[in-house]
Amino acid sequence: MSIILQVTDLVKRFGSLTAVDRVSFEIREGNCFGLLGPNGAGKTTTIEMMEGIKQPDGGAIRYRGEPLGEQFRNEAGIMFQTTALQEFITVREVMRQFSRFYPHSVGIDELAERYALHEFLDQDTRRLSGGQKQRLLLAMAQINQPKILFLDEPTTGLDPQSRRNLWNQLQQIREQGATILLTTHYMEEAYELCDEIAIMDHGRIIAHDAPDALLEAHFDDVVVQIHAADIPRDIGEREFRAVYRNDSAHILTGDVNKTIEHLLHFDIPLDRLRIRARDLEDLFLELTGKELRA
Ligand SMILES: Nc1ncnc2c1ncn2[C@@H]1O[C@H](COP(=O)(O)OP(=O)(O)O)[C@@H](O)[C@H]1O
Ligand SMILES: [Mg+2]
Repeated sequence: MSIILQVTDLVKRFGSLTAVDRVSFEIREGNCFGLLGPNGAGKTTTIEMMEGIKQPDGGAIRYRGEPLGEQFRNEAGIMFQTTALQEFITVREVMRQFSRFYPHSVGIDELAERYALHEFLDQDTRRLSGGQKQRLLLAMAQINQPKILFLDEPTTGLDPQSRRNLWNQLQQIREQGATILLTTHYMEEAYELCDEIAIMDHGRIIAHDAPDALLEAHFDDVVVQIHAADIPRDIGEREFRAVYRNDSAHILTGDVNKTIEHLLHFDIPLDRLRIRARDLEDLFLELTGKELRA
């Protein structure tokens, strides 16, 4: 697969703050690439430089080997935040306005059909639900049939059902061959959608690989969760080095059989036992000492 977009040593400063600190990565054509990190990590600043909206203070961005130019503008689609809808009245107007930016655009009816917006075409955008607005923004980003699509926290604030819908739509876009760059602070989203992720914190990339490869490289254990009431704290902490959190005792183990034997030895009831694989949230905690959503 060829490299569609490449950033090298990208830097952005705001006064004394280095919001993006020598970030480098490459995106393969047809992949979904995720920038995952907590609020303030530098995700939006990075994606906006890649979209050509913000000017970097250092480093280089190349699209198909060239600096961002005409070809990039014609082939890129940007999903804007809901605030971008404020200047327009109806759904149809928004889409018509957007299609004027491009020499070749998809028909409004076709897009409205694809994103279940038909019955809202003449409706005021301010009266759309969160999920409908998000579908409209995604439709707008597709109006030039982009080869690369940029999405900054596309599902933040959406209910679980609308989030799932958007994930399905992004999968379809990808199946049609488009490349996607998205930012998110939801690790499930990054895990579900992305072929590769770069985890950001304080303007830097602290880990970068395919999600499963990252997990395999960092963890060879699983989490055995016992209801806290089922395992006395002194036994849990002394015998299993359990960490108590909310209603659960979390035991990390590389040998589940042995741990269960050990639990049985202490007459710990196992009815409420759960076993969980380590996830990107654990990885972030391990790398930074803090939680992704904190
Ligand atoms: N226009 C700006 N002026 C000053 N500081 C900014 C500006 N934009 C972003 N920042 C700061 O840069 C850092 C990274 O912000 P941002 O890229 O929005 O992070 P994220 O999208 O990961 O939440 C934050 O500390 C933020 O406060
Ligand atoms: Mg952001």
